[in-house]
Amino acid sequence: DHMHAHMHAHTDGISPQFVSVAELTGPRTGTPDRSFTLEAKKTMIALHSGEIKEAWTYNGQILGPELRVKQGELVEVTLINKDIEDGVTIHWHGVNVQNAEDGVAGMTQDAVMPQEKYVYRFIAEQTGTYWYHSHQQSSKQVQMGLYGVFIVEPDTTLPQKTADMAVVLHNWQAENGTTVSLGELNRLQRKIAEPGTLVRLRFVNAENLTAQIHISGVPFQVEAIDGTDILEPEDLIDSRLDLAAGGRYDVTFVMPDTVVGISRQTGPFAHDGNVLVVSPSNEGMPPDAVKGPIFDPASYGTPAQTMFGPDTRYDRNYTLVFDNRPGFYNGKFNFVHTINGSVFPDAPMFMVREGELVKMTFVNRGFDDHPMHPHGHRMQVLSRNGKAVTGSPWITDTLNVAPGETYEVAFIADNPGIWMDHCHNLEHAAVGMSAHIAYE
Ligand code: C2O
Ligand code: CU
Repeated sequence: DHMHAHMHAHTDGISPQFVSVAELTGPRTGTPDRSFTLEAKKTMIALHSGEIKEAWTYNGQILGPELRVKQGELVEVTLINKDIEDGVTIHWHGVNVQNAEDGVAGMTQDAVMPQEKYVYRFIAEQTGTYWYHSHQQSSKQVQMGLYGVFIVEPDTTLPQKTADMAVVLHNWQAENGTTVSLGELNRLQRKIAEPGTLVRLRFVNAENLTAQIHISGVPFQVEAIDGTDILEPEDLIDSRLDLAAGGRYDVTFVMPDTVVGISRQTGPFAHDGNVLVVSPSNEGMPPDAVKGPIFDPASYGTPAQTMFGPDTRYDRNYTLVFDNRPGFYNGKFNFVHTINGSVFPDAPMFMVREGELVKMTFVNRGFDDHPMHPHGHRMQVLSRNGKAVTGSPWITDTLNVAPGETYEVAFIADNPGIWMDHCHNLEHAAVGMSAHIAYE
């Protein structure tokens, strides 16, 4: 990983004051409630265009197996690398596992080389929609297919008949230059749901750019962002959902007796058409997408008291300024995306102590979106461009900061270790847009 190649040297050089990652494991003993085995391997796949392409998969599937567990369960996942020469790992994106289970090659573990295996163990504490992906050369390996969905269900039976499905956005870079997008290779998928059923769509953006999603034909609600429920979500009609790279939205609606269409905008004038329809029967086309207002998480749902307010005194205040400059990275001339003027491994190390309240201000002076993703912690968004959040507490692990925007976020330092804090446009991370949060 060029993103991680230096990391050993880097962290080793300054590690004595840190807690040792090796001791920060999940429960190593006890019978797991759920065990899964994921085998990373090369797999030939056929794109919708007919092109045959080499993919790198977990278990030979173009979207890795969907792992579903219940809250509170002890989860054990055995990773086996069959033939991925550069080595692989599994990072549990958005799940605040213990540091040694975080799957960052060169930092929390060594990459798992061909014919090797590695066992992850952790308790699934938070309900919600998450995903997993390799964190060795992430930019390349996620693109090649090493990712899947991880869902933690509440430990109760659902009150209502629910049709629950993940909708994963991913681009396969095809040889002829066009890209094939959205889960399951962009074939028009039709899912059947009986009228009156509660439908829950778990959108996961496994691409590098913000995804613009339209849902037409039914009023819907955004039930959760990055695994955290929204308090009293209101009905949205024809709103466009802009989903950060790496982020998740859970959307629910009551199935009408007409067809619902899910489509995406791929540029100011381009539209993918319907990529998924949810339909009461095998027939019927959804209505055309209406380009409604953009959904705004900052003013959605009902506010509530949280541990962060206008009077909170923070133990640490950090500002991260994102910018661009031409520069060399790994010997190649590139446009690098900087954090406080630096690129990895010179980017800042944000020091915290366990129990501290930490505020971070993200300022984007560059010309690209930067979806910021701290590992191991969830951030509460306090304000955007100086305006406080007025809706339901907005808790996220992947926050898109658009050019010109400023966000203030806060989190509690409650998960000791050393954590990546990087841009989830993984191509940016690969050219150095990566910092750390470290416990002292
Ligand atoms: Cu989803 Cu550090 O990544
Ligand atoms: Cu970025």
